Amino acid sequence: MESQYLHTTLLALLLLLPISICIAKKPPPPCNFPAIFNFGDSNSDTGGLSAAFGQAGPPHGETYFHHPAGRYCDGRLKIDFIAERLGLPHVSAFLDALGSNFTHGANFATAGSTVRPQNTTLHQSGFSPFSLNVQFYQFSDFHRRSQIIRRRGAPVFRGLMPNAHHFSKALYTFDIGQNDLTAGYFLNMSTAQVRAYVPDVLDQFKTVVKDIYGQGGRYFWIHNTGPVGCLPYVMDRLLVSAAQVDKAGCAAPFNEVAQYFNGRLKQAVQQLRQDLPHAALTYVDVYSVMYDLISRAKQHGFVHPLQACCGHGGKYNYNMHIGCGGKFMVNGTEVLVGKACRDPSVRINWDGVHYTEAANKWVFDKIVDGSYSDPPVPLRMACHRFK
Ligand SMILES: *[C@@H]1O[C@H](CO)[C@@H](O)[C@H](O)[C@H]1NC(C)=O
Ligand SMILES: *[C@@H]1O[C@H](CO)[C@@H](O)[C@H](O)[C@H]1NC(C)=O
Ligand SMILES: *[C@@H]1O[C@H](CO)[C@@H](O)[C@H](O)[C@H]1NC(C)=O
Ligand SMILES: *[C@@H]1O[C@H](CO)[C@@H](O)[C@H](O)[C@H]1NC(C)=O
Repeated sequence: MESQYLHTTLLALLLLLPISICIAKKPPPPCNFPAIFNFGDSNSDTGGLSAAFGQAGPPHGETYFHHPAGRYCDGRLKIDFIAERLGLPHVSAFLDALGSNFTHGANFATAGSTVRPQNTTLHQSGFSPFSLNVQFYQFSDFHRRSQIIRRRGAPVFRGLMPNAHHFSKALYTFDIGQNDLTAGYFLNMSTAQVRAYVPDVLDQFKTVVKDIYGQGGRYFWIHNTGPVGCLPYVMDRLLVSAAQVDKAGCAAPFNEVAQYFNGRLKQAVQQLRQDLPHAALTYVDVYSVMYDLISRAKQHGFVHPLQACCGHGGKYNYNMHIGCGGKFMVNGTEVLVGKACRDPSVRINWDGVHYTEAANKWVFDKIVDGSYSDPPVPLRMACHRFK
């Protein structure tokens, strides 16, 4: 009996083995996301702040769109390359009432957004009133009202709003946190004080992801925050001593805070994976890709990684009072702060605060296949939950 049992078990194992190998080897099908809902700051703003507070004027947009296109960039952002790769149109800004088409998603990001609501106005501090919790209120309202509008009948509405089932099949993308870090520094806080509030920032971030899950969202693609200490607007305003500069010429303390934030963000995403049993959450290490690009710019075919392409004056071709697209007077004549660099396709920094289309594309090409993600899932597979 015993040997027969063993025999049967062995036989069963032998039969099962090829099947399980087969299952393990067969890649899951790509996700076919029908829509993208994006939350974030200027790194993924496709027209939100421009719609609410006035256009980011020329020369923004000139490389790709050939006119201002609501982006703080000479061309496309990572979110644009994500949409293109998924075969979807560029995502319209929720706040943009004119010419928007939300069939395949909506973008709630605005330049200057933070996770935590700030206690200052845009005019006082440069931070957007559309913090992440507000972006969620807008999403929630969009979710409900887009369906009422679709049912209203006139075909034109149906051709502008997403299907109800898009909300559970969509990719929810996030790129936010950088401004929460700079906000403290701009209020003269110490690094210790900034680090101390990072857990609160991430608690509020988790709340929003859970709220979206509560509305049916399942697939989340979350960019971490970039090396903020390599950006002219941070170095120009906050760098106090040459001893703080690293090999790449970046301000080390601010990059350390960004990395601390990213470590906590990664933990927050792991926690969310446990709390939300049907969610697939991908954490994407944009920081490492950006830092590699900036610190080894020459090897990657770029020049002057710390200099703004569009700007005026100073060590970094950046002046906080006269930014890209701004105007100033020289001998009674108005001068536009335009594109000072000859070729933005070999430049990384666009305006002292944001990256060029070329840098965005370079980063996108690195992250799209999942090699910088946890779990290492390519963009098109980001609906699958891996352990
Ligand atoms: C804004 O003020 C409220 C009330 O004092 C406080 O709880 C909150 O943490 C403040 N927000 C920030 C970003 O400092
Ligand atoms: C909105 O975009 C979708 C997909 O690109 C398209 O099918 C639809 O006709 C557009 N709506 C209008 C009103 O143009
Ligand atoms: C921060 O410190 C600088 C220099 O002392 C000062 O000019 C500025 O007003 C301070 N900012 C805030 C928000 O307290
Ligand atoms: C402004 O005018 C002065 C006097 O004519 C001249 O020396 C200077 O070069 C001018 N500056 C610029 C930037 O054109």
